[in-house]
Parts: sequence; C-alpha cells; structure tokens
Amino acid sequence: MYVLDRIIINGQQRLNGSVFVNGAKNAAVAIIPAALSARGICVIENLPCIEDVNILANAIRSCGIKAEFRDPHTLIIDSRNLTDYKLTFDLARNMRASYYLLGAFLGRFKKAIVPLPGGCNFGIRPVNLHIKGFEKLGATIEQEHGMIYAYADRLVGDHIFLDVASVGATINIMLAAVHAEGVTTIENAAKEPHVVDTANFLNILGAKIKGAGTDNIKITGVQELSGGTYTIIPDQIEAGTYMIAAAITGGDVTVKNIIPRHLDSLSAKLREMGCRIEEGGDYVRVVGASELNSVNVKTMVYPGFPTDLQPQMTALLSTANGTSVVTETVFDNRFQYVTEIIRLGCRVNTQTAQIGIVEGPSKITGAEVSATDLRAGAALVVAGLAAEGETVISNVKYIDRGYEDIENKLRGLGANIKRVNEQGEIVNRAPARDRIFDDTETLGHSIDEVAATLEAPNVVISA
Ligand code: UD1
Repeated sequence: MYVLDRIIINGQQRLNGSVFVNGAKNAAVAIIPAALSARGICVIENLPCIEDVNILANAIRSCGIKAEFRDPHTLIIDSRNLTDYKLTFDLARNMRASYYLLGAFLGRFKKAIVPLPGGCNFGIRPVNLHIKGFEKLGATIEQEHGMIYAYADRLVGDHIFLDVASVGATINIMLAAVHAEGVTTIENAAKEPHVVDTANFLNILGAKIKGAGTDNIKITGVQELSGGTYTIIPDQIEAGTYMIAAAITGGDVTVKNIIPRHLDSLSAKLREMGCRIEEGGDYVRVVGASELNSVNVKTMVYPGFPTDLQPQMTALLSTANGTSVVTETVFDNRFQYVTEIIRLGCRVNTQTAQIGIVEGPSKITGAEVSATDLRAGAALVVAGLAAEGETVISNVKYIDRGYEDIENKLRGLGANIKRVNEQGEIVNRAPARDRIFDDTETLGHSIDEVAATLEAPNVVISA
C-alpha cells in the first residue's frame, strides 16, 4: 500500500471514449472468505486488482490456506486441508469484510475466532444482526479483547428476520446456514447484486440457496461443499462512478463490461438531470448535457439509489442548476466527506447527519484535499475532474481499496490526471499483485501444481 501517494488532476477536460469496469469489490470480499467454506479448490475469476482483495488474500493465507494469483484477476484458493478457524491477521481488523470468515468458519468447523470489526468513517457499523442470526442457528457468541468467539455443537436451520436489510448480515448468515441441518430462511434479506453473486458462487460449490435477490432467502443445509470456478460480477459502484464522471465533465463515455440493470437507479437520476443514457447488453453510454437540472436523491437498499454512490452524486449535483436535497438513509454519518468537497467550492449544507442540501451551480476550483474514505475519495476525483485548476488528493490509499487503476482509466478517457509518490515523482501503480506477495510466505507449491489438481476427479469445476 502506497500511503503517501497523491492524485493530481487538472480539471475541466471533457471525458470521451470507453472505460472497462472490473469485478465487483463487494462481491470479491465476500466470495474469497466464502471459498473457505468449501473443502476443495476454488478458482475465482474477474477479481478486481485492489487493496481490499490483496489484504483479504493475505488474511486467508495467514489461516494456513493456499492461495495464489494465476494472473492479476484470478485467485486460486486451495482450502482442502484447512484446519484453522481463527483469524488473527492484523490488517484484517481494519477491513470489515473479514467478518465473513466468521460465517464461513462457523459453518464449516462449528467454531470461529475472528476480530471484531472496528467502526469506520461513516458511523458505528454494528454486527448485532450477524450475531443474532448465528445465535438463531444454535451458536453461542462471545466477545472478548476485540475478538468474536463463535461455537456450536450443531447448527440447525431456523427462520431469521433481519430488522434491517443488512448486506453483511445476509451474506454472513447464508455462509453459516449452508452447513446447518435443515432449512434456514432469511426474511427481509438484502437484495444487493453481491448478495446474489455470493449465493450463486456457493451454489456452484454445492450449496442449496434459493431466492437470493428477493427479500426471502431459503437455504437448505448440505454436509459439505466442494471446489469450483466462478466469475465475479462487474462492479456496480465503479461503473456508477465513471458514469458520474462522464456527466460532470459534459462528456460522452461508454462504460463497458457492466450489468446495466444494476445501474438503473443512477441512470434514472442522470436522465432526470438532463443527460442522455443509452444502454446495451453490457454497457451504458452517458452523454452529458451543457446544463444539468437539480434533482433530489435518497439512498436506499437495492434496487434503490446506492449509498456508495452518494458522495460522487453530491459532487455532481453541485454543478447542476438549483437546489438538490440528498437524503442518506443507510448510514448514520456518511456526509463526513463534505468538509473536503467544500474546499473545492461545492456548496453543501448538511442540515442533519442524514440530509445534505446542495446548492448549484457551484464554481468548482482545484485545491488540496484529503480522502476520508473510499467513496469520499471517489467524490473528490469526480469533483476534481470538473474543477478549474489543480486538485491534489491525498490519502489515496482509500481510493486504492476499491478502484483498480483509476488514474489510467480516467487518463484513457482524456482526463489530465496523474499519481505522484512522496517525492512528487509520477508513478504508475497498477496492476500490482506481485508486489503484494513478494514479501509473504510462499505457498509451498507452484501454481501449475495447483492447476493440475483441478483435474482431480473429486473436484467439481463449473464454467
Ligand atoms: C455493505 C457494503 C458497503 C455498502 C453497504 C450498504 C460490503 C463489503 N460493503 O456494507 O459498501 O455501503 O453494504 O449497501 O459489501 N446494521 C445494523 N446491524 C448489523 C448490520 C448492519 O444495524 O448487524 C446497519 C448498519 O449500521 C447500516 C445498515 O444496517 O446502517 C446497512 O448496513 P449493511 O447493509 O450491513 O452494510 P455492510 O454490509 O457493512
């Protein structure tokens, strides 16, 4: 991780051309832990080359798992001989998604020890619903010295109602329930695309999950999962970020390799603002307008407007004519980033922790700003693209957690953007897998040996 890198943008270049979207971060960080539910070899394709995936790959290796990248986007995980159900990897504490190992270990071993995820920059993010779900399946959960201890003699399927349609709780309960006796139903389940993707992956491995993508998921437990090959869906939020970048520069950008339906809520808002949106099987073209209309936006669970696009959208609304009201309903404190976009001239008044009033059009001008979290960083990039003069963004490590090669992709669209290191030298950081594994223990076998075992008769491989 290059903590002191900065991104420098000289704004007001109209973006033009095509950009290719990578695999979904939020699916990747669920599917990698999910692979540990299987006593087999999993090949996970279309993983984004981002820091969160690197950290998680190292985290599972620390549990004694053999995991190696065949190429920057394909990870082979061999968890046939996994016996450890404890995660102590330090970096995992800062990464909420490591809590998926709780569900995966609890299901497979009936016990798990995983760090309690910390808070984050947009509020307290409790795990009470995850824990209630595990308890409903028969597990005992204890917390001590920052760790969660889960154990059960047996897990038995039950009916679980989620007070909030939590993505994390839905996936975590699913991970444990695939190995529970009998049937588990999750009511008021999250419907986000990565919930469906994780369920599809588990089904490839032999799980019996029905209804993912609806608010009622039914899981019939199985004895054991085997290996398989799976391709992760495209990243809805990365795609949305480039769509917004196109709109804020009045550009003409085709965002490729996506599932347009996942972007319906954003496409609808961009149309309302005056942009032209054309959709094909796996792409969306956004043609900006010389003047944009203000619109109100309320974040909701899927298929509503995603909270992870709220900061970028707020930056865009700053350039529209009139007042827009942005209402955040998913997280308590997601407007933290506003102090930074205000430095660029955006006029956003957060009346309460949930409501931001955006006055437009604002004259956006370059300044030195700092990313406060991943999507806040994306909002600064988006605003910087529209700004007059130079925008210098520090704390790029947050952006690197979720965007593969963002500066090269935007440069490909005509943006004047570069990354510099601590010394101010221009650097190119992607793709970056090998540097991650240079200093870690070797697997003890070559990737060719792993690939050879994929042909073994007891390993199920699905295309
Ligand atoms: C996931 C995404 C994140 C996205 C969010 C909402 C991943 C790795 N991250 O986060 O990018 O912004 O969904 O789409 O997929 N809650 C509880 N108790 C719980 C769990 C959640 O009260 O046990 C609350 C949270 O505080 C929040 C709301 O439920 O207010 C939604 O959170 P959740 O859907 O769980 O988000 P994450 O899974 O953490």
